[in-house]
Amino acid sequence: MRAFASMFVTALAFTTLSIPTTTQAAPQSGQAVAQTPPMGWNSWNYFAGKVDDKGVRAAADQIVSTGMKDAGYIYVNIDDTWQGKRDDSGLLHPNDKFPDMKALADYIHSKGLKLGIYSGPGPKTCAGFEGSLGHEEQDAKMYADWGIDYLKYDLCSFREAVMQQKSPDDKAAQMRLMIAAYDKMGKALKATGRPIVYSLCQYGWDAVWEWAPALGGNLWRTTGDIQPRWMSIYAILSQQEGLEKYAGPGHWNDPDMLEVGNGKLSLAENRAHFSMWAMLAAPLLAGNDLPNMKPEINAVLTNKDVIAIDQDKLGKQASRVYSDGEVDVWARHLAGGAVAVAVLNAGSDRNSTHPFHLDLGKLGLHGPQKGKDLWTGKETQLTEDMPLELASHDILLVRIDAPK
Ligand code: GAL
Repeated sequence: MRAFASMFVTALAFTTLSIPTTTQAAPQSGQAVAQTPPMGWNSWNYFAGKVDDKGVRAAADQIVSTGMKDAGYIYVNIDDTWQGKRDDSGLLHPNDKFPDMKALADYIHSKGLKLGIYSGPGPKTCAGFEGSLGHEEQDAKMYADWGIDYLKYDLCSFREAVMQQKSPDDKAAQMRLMIAAYDKMGKALKATGRPIVYSLCQYGWDAVWEWAPALGGNLWRTTGDIQPRWMSIYAILSQQEGLEKYAGPGHWNDPDMLEVGNGKLSLAENRAHFSMWAMLAAPLLAGNDLPNMKPEINAVLTNKDVIAIDQDKLGKQASRVYSDGEVDVWARHLAGGAVAVAVLNAGSDRNSTHPFHLDLGKLGLHGPQKGKDLWTGKETQLTEDMPLELASHDILLVRIDAPK
């Protein structure tokens, strides 16, 4: 924890210094993609195998009518279970749920949105549908012909069918096979000449953040699957610590898609989850049932001040600066010298017996700081040692434009 605190203090004191990032990812084609974390919607977290053409069109319509498009949500991503069978030429056809993928792409594009799709390097996807093994170039070309703008590429059966088969006793060799498979699809996408966001999904194996940018990866999952439960969200959040130096324009850590509006998450939990994904400069891919979205969930997903933190041009992922009991304090640098501070009560409602006091010094801040509370929308002031009362799993998110 100390190391992060001192790194953050140093970076604040000398604004020309910054937490190091890896070199910029090579864009997929002439046109750079994902210069800020991709925003959109993905079918998996709510619909899973029930996704179909009608549902994807309905999601796109809702993204426009609920104000999500105006707030920055652009990608409409079909996850697993769209695939049918390959014909004699090896060309993969969508199954009955998707009668005409090109027509669907045209519809999505007519709304000013972009279409994403899902595959994997193995013979089968996680849900047991056709994968891209041996057909990488053919599939990439087909995606480009359809007008696909985003590919999520999920490891799944490649582990058993290729890594374990070819190198049963050699973990290092297995990892090399995995990296080669991701490289192959990266090159195939690039060869199409179409700007396609390349999303790696292999759950953070072999420190993916170290090698994904070099093979054209724009984002990479850092963990296993998210669930719409606080413990899952908080566990994934905690695992992002230390990865901040790998995020930057064109290449992002992906702590998995949003569960905002799913399961039985409380409003505070939805707010905290969304705030922290924005602090992490994470891709913001909503995964809820858009046609039945409650107004308070719509309000969380379209909070423009919070989205501006996520989409900040500097692309600097937050660090956990310190924790006091069950309260975590995270901070990130923003363009123009601004700073965002998040104070998260990860525990229970226990402030009356153990009040939390903010330590501005640990954040490298000196004296009272004028800022904006991004959930009340009001001006606020953070002062040294101020007591903060946060309900269980709730968050205070403050933007300070002129930190001292
Ligand atoms: C998992 C992946 C999920 C979803 C699912 C589909 O491996 O992490 O996000 O894509 O496969 O089968």
